[in-house]
Amino acid sequence: MCGIIAYFGKKDVAPILIDGLKRLEYRGYDSAGVCLLNNGELFMAKVKGRVSELEKLALNLKHSNIGIAHTRWATHGEPSEVNAHPHFDCKNEIAVVHNGIIENYTTLKEILEKEGHKFISKTDTEVLSHLIEKFYNNNLEEAVTKALELVVGTFGIAVVCKKENKIVVARRGSPIVLGVGEGENIIASDAVAVLPFTKKVIYLNDNEMVVLTDNKYEIKNFDGQIVEKEIDEIKWTAAEIEKKGFKHFMLKEIFEQPASIENTLRGRIDENLNIKLSIDNIDLKSIKRITIVACGTAWHAGLIGKYLIEKIAGIPTDVDYASEFRYRNPIVREGDLVIAISQSGETADTLAALREAKLKGAKTLGIINVVGSTIGREVDSGIYLHAGPEIAVAATKSFPCMLTGLILFSLFLAQANGKDADKELLEELNSLPEKIQEILDKSQDILLLAKKFKDTKNFFFLGRGVNFPSALEGALKLKETSYIHAEGYPAAEMKHGPIALVDPELVSVFFAMNDHTYAKILSNMEEVRARGGQIIAVVNEANSDILNLTKNVIVVPKCREELMPIISAIPLQLLAYYIADLRGFDVDKPKNLAKSVTVE
Ligand code: AGP
Ligand code: GLU
Repeated sequence: MCGIIAYFGKKDVAPILIDGLKRLEYRGYDSAGVCLLNNGELFMAKVKGRVSELEKLALNLKHSNIGIAHTRWATHGEPSEVNAHPHFDCKNEIAVVHNGIIENYTTLKEILEKEGHKFISKTDTEVLSHLIEKFYNNNLEEAVTKALELVVGTFGIAVVCKKENKIVVARRGSPIVLGVGEGENIIASDAVAVLPFTKKVIYLNDNEMVVLTDNKYEIKNFDGQIVEKEIDEIKWTAAEIEKKGFKHFMLKEIFEQPASIENTLRGRIDENLNIKLSIDNIDLKSIKRITIVACGTAWHAGLIGKYLIEKIAGIPTDVDYASEFRYRNPIVREGDLVIAISQSGETADTLAALREAKLKGAKTLGIINVVGSTIGREVDSGIYLHAGPEIAVAATKSFPCMLTGLILFSLFLAQANGKDADKELLEELNSLPEKIQEILDKSQDILLLAKKFKDTKNFFFLGRGVNFPSALEGALKLKETSYIHAEGYPAAEMKHGPIALVDPELVSVFFAMNDHTYAKILSNMEEVRARGGQIIAVVNEANSDILNLTKNVIVVPKCREELMPIISAIPLQLLAYYIADLRGFDVDKPKNLAKSVTVE
């Protein structure tokens, strides 16, 4: 997590860095800092807290046109001013900001302390500034390269030194985007911070560095060789990054879902209802088994993906937490395809699982939202979601788009293996945006429920079949925005223990749509009701069976079973959002979280 930004150009650098940090704050926001370089002097400010608390201090620093900055999500050393970045060497001549984890920092720190280096913070990052000092001999990029050769772990760093008018940036495992301006250049952890400055970008790969000087940039590998790279163009507009009148990014992104689904579908179903996906480098006919690796919401999408791929394409599919897959020495055989699902395309665990799969010889496919992300560039082939930038920490629009991507892939896989197209499903896919809009048009009904249940202490989310992962996702959304304890369970599992918790204080949210499990779900609702538990039911119709059990009903449009998780996700995103907002929390930046978990 955390966000770094650096600028070398003609403009006053402090406002550029502060504006960039504000755009990166979704990546981490427990502390922040800047360091400016001006006529051989370094000027620094850092705070425990948000970028807004840093702003005044930063704008009062000596004017400069060169600077680096950081907004932190602590991994080593509690959030504090002393642990905030930038970190310095002993003589305060070298400053470093860092995204990532130095896994061998204790060993390096011991060596450096024995050599007389004095540390003031508890972070892993501080070893970098002292290592660079150790190797510094009037060539900053050489010193940085030598220091990084000793590092085990991940980094995206920007470094300045008072003796040289340059910024050295390097990456391994944490994202770095270079924004190419006219005689001025910017680097950042994410394109959202570059966009207001330029659309022309270059994505750094692992073990590459860029040296910014007064009017140019130079990209090298860690052997010092120049690396020529294509200039990409950011596809998003600055307006897409803004809130557009919504109170929070999360609400904006919930309401963007009809358009986002349209974007995911665009150009991928032709007039004859054939699927058009450009999946190169993978022979789909040779796929015998699929393993999906992901984290969080993307993992929930993966659980639904298993159901979709097996039902539509008939290929056996497993789903694994990326963090588990990467360490269980997975068995990979001929004909195995590993699918990495990730909104950011930068999640460290998912990236590591992908690399493990490739090492073992699997073909790999990405289902990703951020174009040019690391995972997007390392898979054999990918399906981009085109959902647009998702700024709120809680994933919303990316989830239905992941599911839409999985449905398209399943249909494409079936098509490649000679199965007839499921015309009815394809037509329903095309009608998804309007079905979602129907739910959004009734958002005030969800607000009423949120007002009624906002002080509830414990929730269960319960579903069967393809609605069980939706229950997990509904619980996660509520947990991560409202800080309310919520658990998702297969509804049938209640009687094997969890039902012991049912009492009038506990609220159970049931997915009770018209599918083959409907009668069983009704029984599960009876079991909860009989013990005084409160119920919220997501249904296709508020009939007497349902109303006898609860008046707290969310009606969603009927649809094919394969599309139910997309439809049912929307009201539960709204429920979580409204409860969090009613409880007065910062919905876009929940405590302890960050949007992209680029550390383990
Ligand atoms: C979900 O709301 C959270 N933001 C988190 O669980 C997220 O889904 C997870 O960290 C995976 O992120 P990714 O999709 O960018 O890989
Ligand atoms: N490991 C560094 C720290 O704890 C950077 C954390 C991050 O990348 O979020 O300060």
